[in-house]
Amino acid sequence: MSTDKKEFRKQFWSAKKMVGSITPSSRYLTKKMLENIDFNNTKVIVELGPGTGVFTTEIITKMSKDTILLVFEVNDCFYNNLNNTIKDERVYFIHDSAEKIEDYLSKYNLDKADIVISSLPLAVFPSELREKILKSSKRSLNNHGKYIQFQYSLQSKALLKNLFNQVKISFTPFNFPPAFVYTCSK
Ligand SMILES: C[S@@+](CC[C@H](N)C(=O)[O-])C[C@H]1O[C@@H](n2cnc3c(N)ncnc32)[C@H](O)[C@@H]1O
Repeated sequence: MSTDKKEFRKQFWSAKKMVGSITPSSRYLTKKMLENIDFNNTKVIVELGPGTGVFTTEIITKMSKDTILLVFEVNDCFYNNLNNTIKDERVYFIHDSAEKIEDYLSKYNLDKADIVISSLPLAVFPSELREKILKSSKRSLNNHGKYIQFQYSLQSKALLKNLFNQVKISFTPFNFPPAFVYTCSK
């Protein structure tokens, strides 16, 4: 088992509801999460819940040289690992909770985000936190912005459809557990 997988498992057992899955996402799910992002026309990306950074590293590879990536992670161990290993002046690691997106956009003098990409385990969050995060994500996006979220069930479908104008859902069986990807437009 890779070091990342071992670390992920350890963090899962210490905080199941925060981590939400026992292993990092697969490369198939990574591809699905990123396939609707037009990296040439994206200046600000916000990632919520990077874990060991499977999406983060791929986003950094694909994003342009003048794009900024804000990455929110509450878990101490995941945050420290990412912050100590990824050194890129386009990327800010934020050791804080996802509902504070707007505070950090202001802190870094950024207006709105083009993309919010989230791996947060919404289904196991208290409803108040879930709503705060989704509403703050929506407010943080520009008019053409997209909120991209994966989940292991369709439980969040109604909530996302209520909040966003358009919600497209795709699915990959090539992940453990198999996952739905929601791509939401304002
Ligand atoms: C299911 S894991 C996904 C990790 C990784 N993106 C992947 O797909 O393998 C969810 C991640 O969200 C983080 N997380 C949970 N609650 C959070 C919050 N309120 N704000 C920011 N990150 C949070 C967890 O620590 C964990 O790293």
